[in-house]
Amino acid sequence: MNKKVLTLIIAILIIAVIGSIIFFTTRTTSNENANNAVEENTREETNTGSKTLILYFSMSGNTQTVANYIHDAIGGDIIRLETVETYPEDYNELVDYAQQEQQENARPELKTTIENIDGYDTIFLGYPNWWGDLPMPIYTFLDEYDLSGKTIAPFITHGGSGLSGTDENIQAEEPDATVTEGLAIYGDDAQNSQSEVEDWLEELGF
Ligand SMILES: Cc1cc2nc3c(=O)[nH]c(=O)nc-3n(C[C@H](O)[C@H](O)[C@H](O)COP(=O)(O)O)c2cc1C
Repeated sequence: MNKKVLTLIIAILIIAVIGSIIFFTTRTTSNENANNAVEENTREETNTGSKTLILYFSMSGNTQTVANYIHDAIGGDIIRLETVETYPEDYNELVDYAQQEQQENARPELKTTIENIDGYDTIFLGYPNWWGDLPMPIYTFLDEYDLSGKTIAPFITHGGSGLSGTDENIQAEEPDATVTEGLAIYGDDAQNSQSEVEDWLEELGF
């Protein structure tokens, strides 16, 4: 074999070896990328599968403060429940107005609509204690939305009466939902309730 032919054969062999190395390396990288994409999709599906809603009604802001602590700790969607008719701003007027609503077993019309309630597994439901009961807009919400199969975690702020059995009232309205142990925060302590809120969330498994 003359020298020129031998050099040519060696050159071809070197090119073939380098070519194979490049080919196999790129194939491994693209497989890894594909696997990563699948993992990300799975994670997204898991997140969508356990969506949480924090829904609260609040007039003077105490319940809103607690709702925000829950949101800070666990994320999810947070919505303030509002009515079409606004409530009186004067405290004494509000107290009388709310009492009358309760005596009439009213269902004040909601301004808030909740898109795709079916997408939520757990609903943290917050409200002030009004005359030892749920504010009537919460009853409207429970009437309008079917929460069967969902977990409802009630939280209340109050002036001394605690939950006043409002967790049981929720369970009566939504017999096919699971109502967890409720959280009761004294209204004046709402600002300082962050660690109590976090303890409760931990007890619930969040
Ligand atoms: C109409 C009305 C009725 C209330 N009734 C009670 C009650 O029966 N028991 C109680 O402990 N607190 C009662 N409170 C006090 C509130 O539950 C308390 O101030 C609460 O933290 C207010 O929450 P908010 O700031 O989110 O509106 C009442 C307050 C209002 C305005």
